[in-house]
Amino acid sequence: MTVEKKDLDWGNLDFSYRKTDYSYVSNYRDGAWDEGALTTDHSITLSECAGIFHYCQEVFEGLKAYTTADGSIVCFRPDMNAQRMADSAERLVMPAFPQDRFVEAVKQVVEANAAWVPPFGSGATLYVRPLMIATGDVIGVKPATEYQFRILVTPVGPYFKGGDTTVKLCVSKYDRAAPHGTGNIKAGLNYAMSLKPGMEAHAAGYAENLYLDSESRTYVEETGGANVLFVAKDGTLVVPKSHTDSILPSITRRSLVQVAQDLGIAVDERPVTWDEVASGAFVECGLCGTAAVISPVGEIHDGDTVVVFPDGHESSGPVMKRLRETLTGIQGGQIEDAHGWVCKI
Ligand code: PLP
Ligand code: COI
Repeated sequence: MTVEKKDLDWGNLDFSYRKTDYSYVSNYRDGAWDEGALTTDHSITLSECAGIFHYCQEVFEGLKAYTTADGSIVCFRPDMNAQRMADSAERLVMPAFPQDRFVEAVKQVVEANAAWVPPFGSGATLYVRPLMIATGDVIGVKPATEYQFRILVTPVGPYFKGGDTTVKLCVSKYDRAAPHGTGNIKAGLNYAMSLKPGMEAHAAGYAENLYLDSESRTYVEETGGANVLFVAKDGTLVVPKSHTDSILPSITRRSLVQVAQDLGIAVDERPVTWDEVASGAFVECGLCGTAAVISPVGEIHDGDTVVVFPDGHESSGPVMKRLRETLTGIQGGQIEDAHGWVCKI
C-alpha cells in the first residue's frame, strides 16, 4: 500500500521532535503488561509521586525506519534494541517489555506513521524512540510496581550537521560512567549528567565530549551519544573496549565490526589508551550510533594537545567511508543483507 507522504522539507530536517500521528503505549500493572495499542495522545498524565520523578527509573532506545531504494519501509535490527532495552530494564529493576512484542510494536507504530517516513535519498529517516518509565507511586527508595512502555516516532535529519564534514571532540574533564555502574545501559540518568559537560563542549566549539574511563582516566571510552572507532596506520579498525563495562553496546558499532570483517578489514577490539591516541597512532576516527551513523572526527583536543587524524581531517577517511557506504547500502536495500539485519515493516 502506498501512502501519501506528509508535505515536509525532507532534505532540511534537523534532529528535533515533531509530533506524528500515532504513538504506541502499553501499561504494566498487577505484574503484567496490558495488550498495548496505538494512541493519538502524545501526552502522559502521571501522579506527582510516580517513580520516574523521584528515583529516575527510565530506560529508552533509539532506532530508525528508512525507505529503501525500492520504496519499502524497513528498520534495522529492532531485535537488538529489544534485547538491550530488556538488559537496561533489568539493571534498573524494571519489568522487560517482551522482546517479540517490542519488535511487533515497532512495526505497528512505524506502519501507522508511514506518511512520516522520509523518502529514499532525502537524507532523513524516521527516528523511533521506545521508552519505559515508572508510573507507580514511590516515596521510599524502591522500584515502582507500575510502568509505562511507549514508542514515539519523529522524522529527523542528521544528528551532526554538515553531512560528511568532520567534527571536533574534546576530552572531557567530567566522567560519564562509573566502573561497573550504568554506562552499559541506555538509561536517561546517564544523559542527565552529560548535559552540563555537553553544553560546555558545544560552547567551546566541540561537537561532543570524549570520555575517558573514570577509574584511571587512562582509557578512551565513548562520547555522550555515540561509540568511537579508530583506524590504525596499517588499516586495522580499532574498537575501544572497556574492562569496567562502562561503554554502551552500540548496535551500529557491533554491526560495523561485522561489516568490516565481511569486507576483509582487520578488527581489533581492545582497551585503547588516550596516550596512544595522543601519540598519533591512528589515521582516522569516527563516531558511530543510530543517530550519528558514522560521523568522521577530524581532531580531538585535550587542553593544549591537538590530535589530528590525517586520513580523515576534512571529511571521512577511506576506511570510515567504506564502512558507512556499506552499512547505509545494506540499510537502503542496495547492498545484500547477508545477515538478515533489515526488518521489513
Ligand atoms: N553510546 C551512547 C552513549 C549512545 O547514546 C548511543 C546511542 O544510542 C550509542 C553509543 C550508539 O548506540 P546505537 O548504535 O545502538 O544507536
Ligand atoms: C541514538 O543514537 O539513537 C541515541 O539515542 C543517541 C542520542 C544521544 C540521540
